Amino acid sequence: MISRAPIDLPVYTDEVVRGLTSRPKTLPCKLLYDDRGSALFEEITRLPEYYLTRTELEILQERAIEIVQAVGTPVSIVELGAGTASKTGTLLRALARRQMRLKYFPVDISPAALADAKKRIRGQCPNALVRPVVADFSDGFHFLREISGRKLVLYLGSSIGNFEWNDAVAMLSRVREQLMPGDALLLGTDMVKPADILVPAYDDAQGVTATFSKNILMRLNRELGADFDLDLFRHVAEWVPSRSRMEIFLESMRPQTVALRMAHLTIRFIAGERIHTENSHKYTLEMIERMLCVSGFRLEKTWFDKREWFGLNLARA
Ligand code: AVI
Repeated sequence: MISRAPIDLPVYTDEVVRGLTSRPKTLPCKLLYDDRGSALFEEITRLPEYYLTRTELEILQERAIEIVQAVGTPVSIVELGAGTASKTGTLLRALARRQMRLKYFPVDISPAALADAKKRIRGQCPNALVRPVVADFSDGFHFLREISGRKLVLYLGSSIGNFEWNDAVAMLSRVREQLMPGDALLLGTDMVKPADILVPAYDDAQGVTATFSKNILMRLNRELGADFDLDLFRHVAEWVPSRSRMEIFLESMRPQTVALRMAHLTIRFIAGERIHTENSHKYTLEMIERMLCVSGFRLEKTWFDKREWFGLNLARA
């Protein structure tokens, strides 16, 4: 008898099948970030319309000394979803003025991004001890326990905004469980603002965000043998005030059928039918305070930019 090895399906296959067979159709936003998606997101952060990254960096640059003072020293820095650590140098340099030994633990799922982070921080703060941690948050935050001494956990970029409220609280609570009283969290949050600023930030004139969104379909074509025609879907970004979030969709421009060969699935779309791919929540100060409080943190201070578009929130465990 000839036995054939089963095809190795991607680990996310069940989630994709569930999402595309539910109503409305959905896809998990984590699938946006393969190598191409991560490079496209880097490009988004430099777009004129995408104010988040540069505004957060501006606050860090202007307030780093104050932030470090408020956190208290000595402290080790742990950065969740650090990526290439493009904003962290400012804070580490401010910390270096108050404490001799600097310990920085960038945490990310991508070893390649962590290697870049290490190189960058070594260049900016030669005496920092950089200890990258490769981890997927779905496995928990046990690595926090293994880091001795007082900790400041950074979660920047308003990445928290991509979680539904309950999931955000669950995630922050799991972080809190691994911390000691007195440890701190610095949480970046994008604030509620008029739709004419929010919508272009998620639907830019050059179409980079649209390419980023459609990359999820390209990935399914490549990894699940799907036959999505990217030209038959359009990127839609809407501000939904009642949910305080930007909602991102891929909309089928005509009736069509798509096959996902490796998942043995065929799905039908009517014209105008959408796949919900992403949410990006925007906060008021009250929402931030509540979210932190129910997760076991106390909000101590928020630093804003001049326009109050973005907040850096210092919370204590
Ligand atoms: C990663 N995250 C904070 C981005 C955001 O603003 O919600 C993801 C993004 N999606 C489209 N543009 C940016």
